[in-house]
Amino acid sequence: MPTVIVTGANRGLGLEFAKQYAAAGWRVIATCRDPAGAGALTGIDGVEVAALDVGDLDAVAAFGARYGAEAIDLFVNNAGTYGGDRAAQAFGSTDAGAWLDTFRINTIAPMKLAEALAGGLEKAKGKIAILTSKVGSVADNTSGGATLYRTSKAAVNMVGKNLAIELAPRGIAVVLLHPGWVKTDMGGPNALITTEDSVSGMRRVIDGVSVHTSGRFYDYSGKEIPW
Ligand SMILES: NC(=O)c1ccc[n+]([C@@H]2O[C@H](COP(=O)([O-])OP(=O)(O)OC[C@H]3O[C@@H](n4cnc5c(N)ncnc54)[C@H](OP(=O)(O)O)[C@@H]3O)[C@@H](O)[C@H]2O)c1
Repeated sequence: MPTVIVTGANRGLGLEFAKQYAAAGWRVIATCRDPAGAGALTGIDGVEVAALDVGDLDAVAAFGARYGAEAIDLFVNNAGTYGGDRAAQAFGSTDAGAWLDTFRINTIAPMKLAEALAGGLEKAKGKIAILTSKVGSVADNTSGGATLYRTSKAAVNMVGKNLAIELAPRGIAVVLLHPGWVKTDMGGPNALITTEDSVSGMRRVIDGVSVHTSGRFYDYSGKEIPW
């Protein structure tokens, strides 16, 4: 039975990843900040739930010490934050404290989690899927704004590319994924697609990834996105 670790699995895309991999017969280790308040997640049959605030880098190291020795077929780095309201992200009023928090959660945590889990991923010749965003694409930026979020995702794209190069000799493949504009708390009600469609698409993309195609940036439909 393959094993997947999903972060931020109490709602949104993370919850859907946990549901779909559990339904497909995988062993699912799902993390969230507050397991006691994560009824939708703890209610899924067979899912193991672990408490983890990915912004707490000591907790990330402890999580790695607990799970990093087991064979891990897939690590889905899903937990993420938008970082703040429009004013906090706007020219003239960027909130530096919120920006640093956003980087810790969206950019540094994915690296520290990869470091913490690399031993287990190597055992299974596993994969790392990082949920990033098209708004982290420099080439695609025509509107500006959302500086905290955009920069954290542009930087995590580089984290993913580095991981792909550095972990290839250990047989670990990496993919950067834009889930589409999805109806979640972050995506909002006007978003274009459901979590079900986004996650089924991303699972197909993840299935197709190997060390030979590692370090690329795709949307949920498999379309490659320019950096
Ligand atoms: N929805 C979209 O349209 C869209 C588009 C592009 C990219 N994405 C990316 O896709 C991923 C999932 O997004 P979503 O739409 O499902 O977002 P969401 O509905 O806002 O859910 C975010 C998840 O991340 C968790 N999280 C936030 N900060 C955390 C922390 N410090 N430690 C642990 N967990 C934390 C949240 O946990 P709590 O409940 O504890 O806050 C929640 O489970 C994110 O990386 C996001 O940037 C989403």
